[in-house]
Amino acid sequence: MAHSPVLYVAAGAFLSYLLYTRIALYLARQRIIKENGCKPCRARFNKDPILGLDVMKMMKENTKKHIVLQENKKRFQKLGNTFHTRLVNMPIIATCEPENIKTVLSLRFKDYSFDHRTAAFTPLLGHGIFNADGERWANSRHLLRPNFARDQVADIDAFERHFKLMLKHIPRDGATVDLQELFFLLTIDTATEFLFNHSTNSLRMFGKEDDTNEDIVFGKAFNYAQDDVGTRSRYGFFDRFRNNQKGEEAIKICHTYIEKFVDDALRFRKEMDEEKRAGNHKDEKYYFIQEVAKQTTDSKRIRDELINILLAGRDTTASLLSNMFFQLAKKPDIYGKLREEIAALEGRTPTYDELKNMKYLKWCLNESLRTHPVVPSNSRLAIRDTILPRGGGPDGQAPLFVPKGTMVGYSPYVMHRRKDIYGADADEYKPERWETLRPGWEYLPFNGGPRICLGQQYALTEASYVTVRLVQEFSQIESRDPEDWIEGLTLTLCSLNGVKVGLTPA
Ligand code: HEM
Repeated sequence: MAHSPVLYVAAGAFLSYLLYTRIALYLARQRIIKENGCKPCRARFNKDPILGLDVMKMMKENTKKHIVLQENKKRFQKLGNTFHTRLVNMPIIATCEPENIKTVLSLRFKDYSFDHRTAAFTPLLGHGIFNADGERWANSRHLLRPNFARDQVADIDAFERHFKLMLKHIPRDGATVDLQELFFLLTIDTATEFLFNHSTNSLRMFGKEDDTNEDIVFGKAFNYAQDDVGTRSRYGFFDRFRNNQKGEEAIKICHTYIEKFVDDALRFRKEMDEEKRAGNHKDEKYYFIQEVAKQTTDSKRIRDELINILLAGRDTTASLLSNMFFQLAKKPDIYGKLREEIAALEGRTPTYDELKNMKYLKWCLNESLRTHPVVPSNSRLAIRDTILPRGGGPDGQAPLFVPKGTMVGYSPYVMHRRKDIYGADADEYKPERWETLRPGWEYLPFNGGPRICLGQQYALTEASYVTVRLVQEFSQIESRDPEDWIEGLTLTLCSLNGVKVGLTPA
């Protein structure tokens, strides 16, 4: 069959265009490399150069054995602070270098996006702050930021109410209790009250199986949907082939539950507007959801933002408390020092300012977030050709070129345990080290740069309050877990076996 000459010309033109763009890209990249003194990084982890299937297999095994983080640390120790790897079709640069992390999160913030995680996050989180980029993210941040001002986050009365409910579930005869289980109930109760002005009150219902109670149904569905975000991330491209009816149902339950509170808030806003028009001004108590509803009437947008903050704020604070109490239960001397500091309150419940001034308490929290950062690893996707200041050359001190489409994975867990930064005892839980420690980008539990955690003060206030109250109520804590801490890694990092302790009333 004869081919038309037009076809040959078209194919030739296309190939020439392809060649031209390739050469232009190559030359542009060479220019960036030369101008910035970039050197190649020879350290590479994966053996399978095409799909990185060996990495996938190893990740699966390490996940099963609960040793993902410790193995990751060993890998950095072997290969250096920055190395190349690959997962399926994604080239990755892994780093635990503070200067590189600062560059990704702050100095070259605009060179990176979250695109690689939106497919897994969008079904539950829509386009809320945690799952948005660019303009959309900036709008969300602008909308939500005012709600995290000091007055709003310091609702000590609410913390005390929920703490009292938790206290009812802690045996006073020294019998073993899992504090981690209680912390997760406490933080969903406080977070839902803070966000929706309606608490799930799961501590009130704890132990009573009632599958008709919509707060309980929501709590369970939220746990499921949240774990499912992790599963979706792990499956990546292949997730679309998974039958996930239970996940879809859980998301629907979560959305419907929250939409009810959004409707209430929008109704309230309408009434307020009418009152204002009629010249009646009422003194309003502050409610998160109502403040957001004052700025937008888009009900889906409000729902998405709220579920994003619930996800960002609930497990994180519970995990911090759990990881810290695991250590305190193993180290009675540290618990004793905390009691000494808290004795200054003479049994009174603490105010916000008193909490902020407790130095040893702050060291204990900082140290927990250092040894067990609740977001232990994270990543960003390069959306244009860019550079990192470290990782190139044989000693890893030269700049490194990052081609567009590369994922930069960074590990606060490994960085927080670097012996050249924190000393030979970097793996140990030692609050006292904070007496002289003033880290910058070497310490990153709450992220840094424009996307730094919005709820940091809320989390630290809640964790401080709960710790002080527990230490006031119980003179001693004893670990009932013969094992060391084992990694329980989902979207956040807590203890696999919970925090099993016996407590002695004060
Ligand atoms: C110990 C507790 C917490 C830790 C360690 C923590 C840590 C983090 C980290 C590492 C990020 C960055 C995630 C990323 O960019 O991939 C983040 C973002 C965020 N956190 Fe937290 N968080 C905690 C508690 C909270 C709480 C209690 C809230 C809200 C009530 C909250 C709200 C947020 C929000 C809204 C973002 C997204 C900020 C943005 O993208 O602009 N966090 N947090």
